[in-house]
Amino acid sequence: MIIALDGPAGAGKTSTARAVAKGLGYFYMDTGAMYRAITLAVLNESESYSEVDAARISDAVSVDVRYIQEQMLVLLNGEDVTELLRTPWINKHVSTVSSFKAVREKLVDIQRSVARHMIDEGYGVVVDGRDIGTVVFPEAACKFFMIASPEVRAQRRYDELLGQGKPADYDEILQNVNDRDAIDSGRDVAPLRQADDALVLDTSTMSFKEQVSQVINTVLERQEQHDV
Ligand code: DC
Repeated sequence: MIIALDGPAGAGKTSTARAVAKGLGYFYMDTGAMYRAITLAVLNESESYSEVDAARISDAVSVDVRYIQEQMLVLLNGEDVTELLRTPWINKHVSTVSSFKAVREKLVDIQRSVARHMIDEGYGVVVDGRDIGTVVFPEAACKFFMIASPEVRAQRRYDELLGQGKPADYDEILQNVNDRDAIDSGRDVAPLRQADDALVLDTSTMSFKEQVSQVINTVLERQEQHDV
């Protein structure tokens, strides 16, 4: 069974998806990390890239996912780059790189084949991203669209960075959240959009525990009703 979790940056998808996967004994696939890996490959060559450059680099590199216990690792040309993907540098460029058609086509193929493998092996998978319920797995048994106001999302990110002892500037983070929303929602290929059959979860006033149990309970109800 595939559970799709889409929504804008900072709505709580990744942490929720991880906890839901753990609670249900499913695998978790972080598709944002895959777009970040290609972005890293592009930036390693140059910060001033065109769509043609990005397409060439994306075509030349290999992106794989590996699981060590429950943790998903991203391999770029065979090298584990997981720890290099959540930086302000990548945050600044990832929405642009992920708006390019060739990059999306490559990663959507990989995402489908990883999920197919898991399903064939008898596992369920929780997948988070922007286009999972609309484009990658429109057949997903359960779809959620997680939202929260830009201010709430920026504040969460700000608190998270401070909690990690890292420097953080709230206004800069809010600007990045708004910029990424505009690019992710406005792009031509697979824009961020709620699937018609997705359940909307506004996490602005929900606790983390509430988000996770709402998703898990909905999945379990759906399984009971439809025997999926
Ligand atoms: O979820 P994230 O913040 O790690 O995603 C990073 C970027 O990748 C985000 O700005 C949009 C893009 N992305 C996408 O276009 N499609 C996906 N399925 C996942 C992420």
